[in-house]
Amino acid sequence: MILQAVNLHKYYNTRKTKVNVLKGLNIDIVEAEFVTVLGASGAGKSTLLHLLGGLDMPSEGQVLLDGSDFYKIKDRERAYLRSRNIGFVFQFYHLLPEFTALENVMMPGLVGGSITAAEAKQKASQLLEEVGLEHRTSHHPAELSGGEQQRVAIARALMNDPRILLCDEPTGNLDSKTGSKICELLMRLNREKEYTIIIATHSEDIAKLSSRVVHVRDGKIE
Ligand SMILES: Nc1ncnc2c1ncn2[C@@H]1O[C@H](COP(=O)(O)OP(=O)(O)O)[C@@H](O)[C@H]1O
Ligand SMILES: [Mg+2]
Repeated sequence: MILQAVNLHKYYNTRKTKVNVLKGLNIDIVEAEFVTVLGASGAGKSTLLHLLGGLDMPSEGQVLLDGSDFYKIKDRERAYLRSRNIGFVFQFYHLLPEFTALENVMMPGLVGGSITAAEAKQKASQLLEEVGLEHRTSHHPAELSGGEQQRVAIARALMNDPRILLCDEPTGNLDSKTGSKICELLMRLNREKEYTIIIATHSEDIAKLSSRVVHVRDGKIE
């Protein structure tokens, strides 16, 4: 098991009320799986992905990465494990507008300082080629279509050779044709490179193609 949620609870305390989003959710993710997480808007899909990726704190319960509690370690250690193991892809791409596609992809490689700028550049070029954007490396995000921006974001997520990709509505901002291209790309990465992929989505098309579909409902996996 590469990633597990065990009796996961998440509450948010707002001024007036306590919102119980996750209420004892359990899920086991096997290496190289392609899992689609479906659920109504507000069901807690993003909350779950953030918790699985070490970006938030559970209120109760555990997230296990390779069997070890991801939240019983120091923040710095978790940040390190996250950078080595997990790549994120978001609905709105979150590219840095003042940098080129190539620079955006290089960025996570430069943060850890484990490779040189030249190596990062070489690797980022390769990744952009992998996602079919070798002809757009010096474009800025504003000069790219939505689908192209999402490809750049996927290449960036792959920069540190993660084992797991967490994708939060990656096609949610794209027309259906562009969305299915992005979906095909993720499928190919899963098949050929064996990334473990977890996608929160409303897309039935993605769900149809994935190896497993789970539904978040009433704070649990249905
Ligand atoms: N920081 C927060 N504070 C209070 N409530 C939140 C916060 N983040 C999310 N929520 C609430 O938690 C619920 C689940 O949100 P989310 O995980 O984003 O759902 P989904 O991604 O399935 O649409 C929603 O009702 C949302 O309003
Ligand atoms: Mg969401």
